Amino acid sequence: MTKGWQKSDWRTKPRVQMPDYLDSAALTAVEAQLAKYPPLVFAGEARRLKKQLALASEGKAFLLQGGDCAESFAEFSADNIRDTFRVMLQMAVVLTYGAKVPVIKVGRMAGQFAKPRSAPTEVIGGVEYPSYRGDIINGFDATPEARQPDPARMLQAYTQAAASLNLLRAFSTGGFADIHRVHSWTLGFAEHDKAERYRELSNRISDALDFMNAAGVNSDTAQELARVDFYTSHEALLLEYEEALCRVDSISGQNVAGSGHMIWIGDRTRQPDGAHVEFCRGVLNPIGLKCGPTTTAEDLKVLMAKLNPANEAGRLTLIARFGAGKVAEHLPRLVKAVKEEGANVVWSCDPMHGNTIKSPSGYKTRPFNAVLSEVREFFAVHKAEGTIPGGVHFEMTGKDVTECTGGLRAVTDEDLSDRYHTACDPRLNASQSLELAFLVAEELLAARQEGHRVAL
Ligand code: PEP
Ligand code: CO
Repeated sequence: MTKGWQKSDWRTKPRVQMPDYLDSAALTAVEAQLAKYPPLVFAGEARRLKKQLALASEGKAFLLQGGDCAESFAEFSADNIRDTFRVMLQMAVVLTYGAKVPVIKVGRMAGQFAKPRSAPTEVIGGVEYPSYRGDIINGFDATPEARQPDPARMLQAYTQAAASLNLLRAFSTGGFADIHRVHSWTLGFAEHDKAERYRELSNRISDALDFMNAAGVNSDTAQELARVDFYTSHEALLLEYEEALCRVDSISGQNVAGSGHMIWIGDRTRQPDGAHVEFCRGVLNPIGLKCGPTTTAEDLKVLMAKLNPANEAGRLTLIARFGAGKVAEHLPRLVKAVKEEGANVVWSCDPMHGNTIKSPSGYKTRPFNAVLSEVREFFAVHKAEGTIPGGVHFEMTGKDVTECTGGLRAVTDEDLSDRYHTACDPRLNASQSLELAFLVAEELLAARQEGHRVAL
């Protein structure tokens, strides 16, 4: 893709948000070991995802990207993976049925381990410690030993990612994701309004499937409906890990990040001349770029030219994360920059990262209403600009956690302590995720109808 680019070139660029490993021999040994391991994904899969994202940039598909803020070693289990996957499937069904659009399913899973932090240290119980940077870097426990960056954690992260991806592939193609099982995905869900709405929707889908069956729709179609494409993604933050898993695609000779299908650049690491942009520009995978309140039109133009010089559709997804009440202030200038450059991008909305607050009870939380508002504002700006809302990006879990306040089964500030399990940012629970999907489906259907009206 990028002539003369070497996977280690990022090392000569300024880096932020990466750990300083004390034992450089141990680090080198881990990198050498990872470089010998098989990549987790294959270049052909990354290319297929890119093709599907190209459709999203034209409004012919919609990107649903979600999962943990940070995967953790302690929470690693088949049940957790299944529950998150199941909620993603449910959200996809709500969107496909509600907005009549194919949904591209991308998990923040099987590699989402490294976290940028707002400060290098944090004070816990009056003592200052290095900040927790995700399980691939250091430990969550508040001890000096745990907080020391340890390169061996990369090997554990790789192993966990490989096992997670293996199970996700099995679920995707082995029968679990068969649309004929649309009802069973709801099992284990507490009763509430949206669950009822979901049940009605699954009844209608079952009817349609029965009809197709009776009408003799051929077995190829039935087989297609029995499986899904499910992709993985994470923030490409820990570049030693990314470089060690970078491979040359034997078909095209291009470099591919072997750590996941899609990788993204965070809001804190998108310096146009920095290490993270340097690494990402050289790999063929679809790239996400977080755009926050401080992203200028000029920055965006430079970044688009660096990350997608050939203006390939599906290569670049711009993930807008401004915060409720701020989208109208920031998104239009970026939309304008994209129009001026004639750039092909997928516009996605992350309604989570601009809406994090400290609750009166001291927990880091996100008011669910703010999350919903940001989604509405995102759609409103695209309507006003005549551009295409192409996806959503969110943090969620299939578990019934109490981390974000609000939602139909109103989680209150006092409830936060009940089941607050995240090691990092507060996530939507299963019920809030479904509620979000219904809202997105409504907004998307309206946008698509508007699009047809304009096209006519
Ligand atoms: C994230 O997606 O977890 C994250 C840290 O996002 P951002 O870079 O947008 O703050
Ligand atoms: Co987060």
